[in-house]
Amino acid sequence: MVVREIKPSVYYVGAIDWDRRLFDELIPLPDGTSYNSYLIMGREGVALIDTVDPTKEHELTANLKELKIERIDYVIANHAEQDHSGAIPRILELYPEAKVVTNEKCKGMLRDLLLIPDHRFLTVKDGELLSLGNKTLEFILAPWVHWPETMLTYLREDKILFTCDLFGSHLATSELYAIDESKVYESAKRYYAEIMMPFRFMIRKHLERIENLEIEVIAPSHGPIYNEPEFILNAYKEWISDKVRNEVVIAYVSMHGSTSKMVQYLIDLLIGKGVRVKPFNLTRTDIGELAMALVDAATLVVASPTVLANAHPAMVYAVYLVNALRPKLRYVTIIGSYGWGGRMLEQIRGMLTNLKVEVIEPVIVEGYPKEEDFKALSKLADEIHKRHELIKREEWT
Ligand code: FEO
Repeated sequence: MVVREIKPSVYYVGAIDWDRRLFDELIPLPDGTSYNSYLIMGREGVALIDTVDPTKEHELTANLKELKIERIDYVIANHAEQDHSGAIPRILELYPEAKVVTNEKCKGMLRDLLLIPDHRFLTVKDGELLSLGNKTLEFILAPWVHWPETMLTYLREDKILFTCDLFGSHLATSELYAIDESKVYESAKRYYAEIMMPFRFMIRKHLERIENLEIEVIAPSHGPIYNEPEFILNAYKEWISDKVRNEVVIAYVSMHGSTSKMVQYLIDLLIGKGVRVKPFNLTRTDIGELAMALVDAATLVVASPTVLANAHPAMVYAVYLVNALRPKLRYVTIIGSYGWGGRMLEQIRGMLTNLKVEVIEPVIVEGYPKEEDFKALSKLADEIHKRHELIKREEWT
């Protein structure tokens, strides 16, 4: 049980999930997570902002009991995904007068996912207000962060913006606020990379919209709260911008040493030219680390051996994810080795359809790399360096 007051009559009533290590059976959670739920006690109404994952609903209800909450008038659903909505049915059972307040799209999803009946909903439109007496909630529709129904809720009098997934971080911590900024920055960046990156153009619009709000606190539904909102707003502005860094991400797999020899050679050349290199051995790396590196990198090098005529399965998975996450890469190249043939090159190229990138001439070698192959890699390093010199002139710090 962790009840904490954020502002007078505004409480954190969520749950920390210290042990969770996988989200959506897909995303690694090295630092656990939290499901933040907030209670606002107005003079004429009580509202709960989002709930928690169903595995933690007993913690939410215990928190409400600790606060001696006998009546909840509104459950605000900013997002239909079950890690925030999954405890709504239990709350509706415990508080029979409560209505689920959300937008039309989210209502449809909550009906489908949680079988909440129609009469328990109160739908709101973009910009609509809900008064709790001395506290006023304003609803801001912000679709596609990261589902189509997402919205934000702004508590006018206390200047708190409840953003659900947006600005969140998968970080289990005893600190309510983002005190350890370097740790929170890493977690929030990983979260952005894995969940929000495909929607950076939508986020850009939402950021423009909330720029007009006076915000003292950003309260997301995962990870610590930001009592200095500029910290996370500035980080997001950087991540969603079109600017890239003088960085090369190398995703690689090597079965018998040929591809790793090529990778090592290329790494050394690029370092020698002043290019920052981030290599990831896909058989060992956490895929979240790779996603994070892709937030700012200018170039991706895909380095794979050929297995059964195609790229290594670990590489196929990684390239599929890169394509789905749509990082702002400018350049991609492919290097690797084959034993007796195959279509690895065509396969990888064909999987990167979402990326608007220039493909720099690949280097694919037969067997172990030989003198002419090292020459081709040197040329590749020159080509990458040449392009990155232009990027450096964009004055990215
Ligand atoms: Fe934290 Fe999209 O749920």
